[in-house]
Amino acid sequence: MLVYSSPRELAAWRDRVRGMGQRIALVPTMGALHAGHATLLRAARAQADKLVASIFVNPTQFGPLEDFDRYPRQLDADQAVCREAGVDMLFCPPREDMYAGDHSVYVVEGRLTRGLCGPHRPGHFRGVLTVVAQLFNMVQPAVAMFGQKDAQQARLIQRMVRDLHMPVRVLIAPTVREADGLALSSRNRYLTEDERRRACALSQALRLGEGAYQRGVRDADEVCRQMRKHCETVAAPVAIDYVEAVDFERLEPVRTLADGVLLAMAARIGGTRLIDNILLGRERILGAFDLV
Ligand code: PAJ
Repeated sequence: MLVYSSPRELAAWRDRVRGMGQRIALVPTMGALHAGHATLLRAARAQADKLVASIFVNPTQFGPLEDFDRYPRQLDADQAVCREAGVDMLFCPPREDMYAGDHSVYVVEGRLTRGLCGPHRPGHFRGVLTVVAQLFNMVQPAVAMFGQKDAQQARLIQRMVRDLHMPVRVLIAPTVREADGLALSSRNRYLTEDERRRACALSQALRLGEGAYQRGVRDADEVCRQMRKHCETVAAPVAIDYVEAVDFERLEPVRTLADGVLLAMAARIGGTRLIDNILLGRERILGAFDLV
């Protein structure tokens, strides 16, 4: 596995690979890699000739009170995960190569960011879209793989690629979970033992919502109320940012549940903000959103 930190080395490698007519798959990450990332990498591996992973803890997507400084950094362990998953080239740029001191151009989205995490994390998606656009320009992948765990992020990137005509196919892979349902996240390591036990309330609430849908319940408000109540009871004390049913296309709230509706929630347990979601009828709408 090649490991590059210099954009110049990356560009030379990329030009060689593309010159041979080979296609590149990219999986952008912030490191602290877990089995969710590994699954994403393996799924991307099957999509192209060369697999690139990037590790960059992107400062512009963290709010001033968020966890940028304490975000876990563990390059040696991450390299082992990448090697194991068949990564050909791992790109770990230093901050100054991504953001010049007078960096001044950002990618801002104005629709899909109105709801869900948008209002709770001002500037977050601007940072995400900017760094992903940079990585797409640097790596020039034919495909890029993102996790449904961060569903709003993945849909935003699909929208950016469409609206800015970026020649990248953006695929969305299913969420990888612990045995008790908790979605894997680099932030789970912040949880104390007690918080970790309470955290499974999120995925339980989502399964509850999905179960109601499967039994024929269609009232979105009613289902969101039940999900919120479950979370408030099992995860207490917990601060819920939102529990919502939105359509996956526009990420706007719906009144009626149907295939393609995303049940999504965000909650803070102790000092840790957790998000999770479930896409109703996922297997029946796979083609529509490049879900894999
Ligand atoms: P990070 O949180 O490291 O996640 C990298 C990728 O792994 C994202 O596409 C995310 O959705 C996916 N992922 C995380 N947990 C997952 C799980 N349990 N199952 C499946 N996939 C999972 O998301 C980011 O980094 C950043 O915002 C980034 C896109 C790299 C831009 O900085």
